[in-house]
Amino acid sequence: MSNRLENKIAIVVGGTSGIGKAITELYAAEGAKVVMTGRREEKGREIEKAINDNGGECLFIQADSTKKEDLENVVNTTIEKYGRIDILNNNAGILATTPLDEIDPTEEFNHMFNVNVTSYLTMIQLVTPYMKKQGAGSIINTASVGARQPMPFNISYSTSKAAVKHMTESMAVALAGDNIRVNSLAPGLTRSEMVEEGSDFEKAVLPSVPMKRTGSAKEIANGSLFLASDEASYVSGHMLVLDGALTAFSC
Ligand SMILES: NC(=O)c1ccc[n+]([C@@H]2O[C@H](COP(=O)([O-])OP(=O)(O)OC[C@H]3O[C@@H](n4cnc5c(N)ncnc54)[C@H](OP(=O)(O)O)[C@@H]3O)[C@@H](O)[C@H]2O)c1
Repeated sequence: MSNRLENKIAIVVGGTSGIGKAITELYAAEGAKVVMTGRREEKGREIEKAINDNGGECLFIQADSTKKEDLENVVNTTIEKYGRIDILNNNAGILATTPLDEIDPTEEFNHMFNVNVTSYLTMIQLVTPYMKKQGAGSIINTASVGARQPMPFNISYSTSKAAVKHMTESMAVALAGDNIRVNSLAPGLTRSEMVEEGSDFEKAVLPSVPMKRTGSAKEIANGSLFLASDEASYVSGHMLVLDGALTAFSC
C-alpha cells in the first residue's frame, strides 16, 4: 500500500467487476476511502470485505445507476459518513453488439444511454455542489476507444461512449473555474465480464490490437489512478487512451 490518494474520499460507480473492481481496489490500496456501487450485492460485499480485511477502507452501496434515487442515496450516504467527495469515477457500463437494422430505439438505445451516459450526468450533478464548496475535485468518466473510432458492430455502445467523451470535455470547461477536473478513460480491449477470455468479442477484436494481447483491468485502473491523483493537477478535458495502440493507426 502507498499513499497517492491518501485522505481522499472516492466514489466508484459500477465497481462490482472488471475495470471498476480494479479501480476500487487500487484507489483503496493508495489510501483512499472508497464508496463503491453496483446492482449485485453479493459481489459488492465480497470486494468490500476483502479490502477492509486487507487494511483498506471500502463501503459498498447497492445502487442501480438508472435509478436517480439510488444515486442520491450513494452521494448522501458518502457525505453523511465522510463529509466530502474528492474523486468520482463513473464506470458503470453495458455493451450491445446488435446489427444496425435490429437496434430497438427504446429497449436498447435509450437504455444504453441511461446506463452509459445519463447516469454519469446525474452523478456529476449530485457531487459537484460538494466539490465546488471544497474548491477541488476530480471526475473520471469511463468512455471507450469506441468514443474515438467508429464501431459498426456496436453502434449504440460506441455512440454512447462518444457522448461520454464529449460530455467530459464540455464539463471540463464548465467546471474549470471551480478547480474541478473532468477527464475520461478510453480502454481498448480489456479483460472483464464484458470481455471474457476466449469470447467471440475478444476473438473479433484481438487481431487488430498491435500489442497482440488483451489489456488487464489493473492496467486501466492505473490510468484512473493517475487522473484521480494530484499528479494530474493540470490535466482536465483529456481522454486517456489505454488500448495497446489499437486506435493509433486509424485516428
Ligand atoms: N472491457 C472492455 O474491453 C472495455 C473497453 C472499453 C470500455 N469499457 C468500459 O469499462 C466500463 C467497465 O466495464 P467492464 O469491462 O469492467 O465490464 P463489467 O465487468 O461487465 O463491469 C460493468 C460494471 O458496470 C456495472 N453496471 C452495469 N449496469 C449497471 C447499472 N444499471 N447500475 C449500476 N451498475 C451497473 C456492473 O455492476 P452490476 O452488474 O453489479 O450492476 C459492473 O460493475 C464500462 O463503462 C465499459 O463500457 C470496457
